[in-house]
Amino acid sequence: MPTALITGITGQDGTYLAEHLLSLDYRVHGLIRGQANPKRQLIETLLPDVRIVEGDLLDQTSLINAIQRVEPDEIYNLAAVSFVPVSWNQPELTGEVTGLGVLRMLEAIRVVGGASASRPAPPAAGRIRFYQASSSEMFGKVAVTPQNEQTPFYPRSPYGVAKVYGHYITVNYRESYGIFACSGILFNHESPRRGPEFVTRKISRAAARIKLDKQKDLVLGNLDARRDWGFAGDYVRAMHLMLQQPDADDYVVGTGESHQVREFVDLAFRHVGLNWQDHVRSDSQLSRPAEVDHLTADATKARQKLGWQPTVSFEELVQMMVEADLKAEAGEP
Ligand code: NAP
Ligand code: GDD
Repeated sequence: MPTALITGITGQDGTYLAEHLLSLDYRVHGLIRGQANPKRQLIETLLPDVRIVEGDLLDQTSLINAIQRVEPDEIYNLAAVSFVPVSWNQPELTGEVTGLGVLRMLEAIRVVGGASASRPAPPAAGRIRFYQASSSEMFGKVAVTPQNEQTPFYPRSPYGVAKVYGHYITVNYRESYGIFACSGILFNHESPRRGPEFVTRKISRAAARIKLDKQKDLVLGNLDARRDWGFAGDYVRAMHLMLQQPDADDYVVGTGESHQVREFVDLAFRHVGLNWQDHVRSDSQLSRPAEVDHLTADATKARQKLGWQPTVSFEELVQMMVEADLKAEAGEP
């Protein structure tokens, strides 16, 4: 039975990935930070088969301890400060967790495996396979559309800059120490488990609440931004597939379709029988200091080498999220 360690287990992707790996008969461990993390109970209830291990991407020793205790075959590093606006307000913390946190995970693998510059690929470090959650935010002010593995990076936020560091340190540890380390450059992926601060969930939740007379209106920022939105459940399959290949590599993962925030709003409100223009307004206070205007994935490599394909369309995703929020707001579990 293979063993996996997931950082960011309490996040959207952590829960979907844990479910996927458990369905494939993995023994799954999830790293949880803090002495009283309020989401620990949620994981214990939703995913009783996940074994919890304590640790923090800010603490090198805790990561070494976690790897020594779990002895994983695969490590999925999903933990991050992941909300882009926070990264302008807490740029140093973002750099520490989202950027240097990746280095600490890789160092933990190297130290436990005993790799050094003069002994690049010892068996233990070579055995652990590592996945880094990189992001389409690294493309930022895009040079080319659509974006693939060759597209230059131009990050537009402290978050994007930290992810570029995480990407290149992953590539560097692969090349320096022979660690099987992959970087998945994932475009936006959403679900009913998406945090309510992200735009898709903010919209689906508001559409449901306005329909149920629990909220009057919705204030958003830039309605013109375009994203390539897919379903998170599909994207965690790609993470796992990357670690099953004969060689470590980097892959872009996305649907290849991009839509404006405005289109998401329109579909969500139409789904509950409302006209969005009666309820939604845009406030420039919610605009970002530097925006990423338009992201579209060219996931040819993932399709061809991993055999990966998305299964949920944009329209289905919007409906899934609004339906789930209607149920949640109506008090159903
Ligand atoms: P998420 O829901 O925001 O989850 C982030 C996770 O990171 C949480 O479990 C959080 O734990 C954990 N975390 C934060 N700081 C930590 C620390 N110092 N030590 C240990 N854990 C810490 O994010 P997501 O949407 O699942 O995304 C997963 C990863 O993919 C992230 O790295 C994100 O940047 C990246 N990504 C996401 C997307 C997307 O569209 N979803 C696209 C590309 C890349 P707490 O519960 O303790 O806060
Ligand atoms: N959050 C938010 N709230 N975004 C808004 C709003 C609003 O009220 N109004 C408009 N937007 C626009 C943002 O300006 C941005 O252009 C777009 O909606 C998407 O914003 P988010 O949902 O916050 O996601 P993101 O694209 O910034 O980042 C997400 O995807 C990245 C992959 O490209 C996060 O999951 C990152 O962690 C991930 O790396």
